[in-house]
Amino acid sequence: MTTVNYAPHTTQAVAARATGLSKVYGQGETQVVALDNVSVDFGQGRFTAIMGPSGSGKSTLMHCVAGLDTFSSGSVRIGDTELGSLKDKQLTQLRRDKIGFIFQAFNLLPTLTALENITLPMDIAGRKPDRQWLDTVIEMVGLSGRLSHRPTQLSGGQQQRVAVARALASRPEIIFGDEPTGNLDSRSGAEVLGFLRNSVRELGQTVVMVTHDPVAASYADRVIFLADGRIVDEVLSPTADAVLDRMKAFDAKGRTS
Ligand SMILES: Nc1ncnc2c1ncn2[C@@H]1O[C@H](COP(=O)(O)OP(=O)(O)OP(=O)(O)O)[C@@H](O)[C@H]1O
Ligand SMILES: [Mg+2]
Repeated sequence: MTTVNYAPHTTQAVAARATGLSKVYGQGETQVVALDNVSVDFGQGRFTAIMGPSGSGKSTLMHCVAGLDTFSSGSVRIGDTELGSLKDKQLTQLRRDKIGFIFQAFNLLPTLTALENITLPMDIAGRKPDRQWLDTVIEMVGLSGRLSHRPTQLSGGQQQRVAVARALASRPEIIFGDEPTGNLDSRSGAEVLGFLRNSVRELGQTVVMVTHDPVAASYADRVIFLADGRIVDEVLSPTADAVLDRMKAFDAKGRTS
């Protein structure tokens, strides 16, 4: 086994930070506390996985930190920018310029080709893609022969690669993925994860990913575990087995309490 030294990119800088973050849905009897006083740092140039049972608040945490959803209390910052201090327009701008998204439902525009989908966020922002970087990204996700195809002419896995390439193309400060490999077979999933891993190791990209899969989580530098809207545990330099063991421990606790 090779040991990989991630140190060159593990600076102390924080790409995103939530402090005392709470999110409550609804009111009265139907009230749901989706996030309960969560404080967490996502280090720059680090790959963090978020795990936890269904309904534990993973997507909510990611959406709040990425400026896609409002929160009830606490604060969130991306880099040095407090999200709470931004007007809607500024928030939209920040999302566009600094954040890349990869969702399970790929959010590709059906009328655009693969290449047009990949460069869309930059086109909207009026930024010219770095052609060399774009070629590298396209090559690595294996889409070179499919650039003029529209989403309906691509397989699910290929559409997911377009979504990954789109997130990476502008070199955003931070990439958020909500189960980015959830729809892929294990081989395509491994490729996408390997690509994200490489972008962290070689380019200092910051990635935060929600996943249910211990193998996917093992690509990360760090796994945080949510339960009932709180962070309850963390594993550093995770292996799939270590993650699985930790998940089993929660299940056992859940049954006895
Ligand atoms: N729009 C909403 N209105 C009311 N409750 C919501 C809403 N969105 C999420 N919730 C609730 O908030 C809690 C956290 O939901 P969230 O989607 O963050 O979970 P999750 O950990 O991502 O789950 P999964 O693994 O199933 O995707 C759940 O109890 C959910 O029912
Ligand atoms: Mg979710």
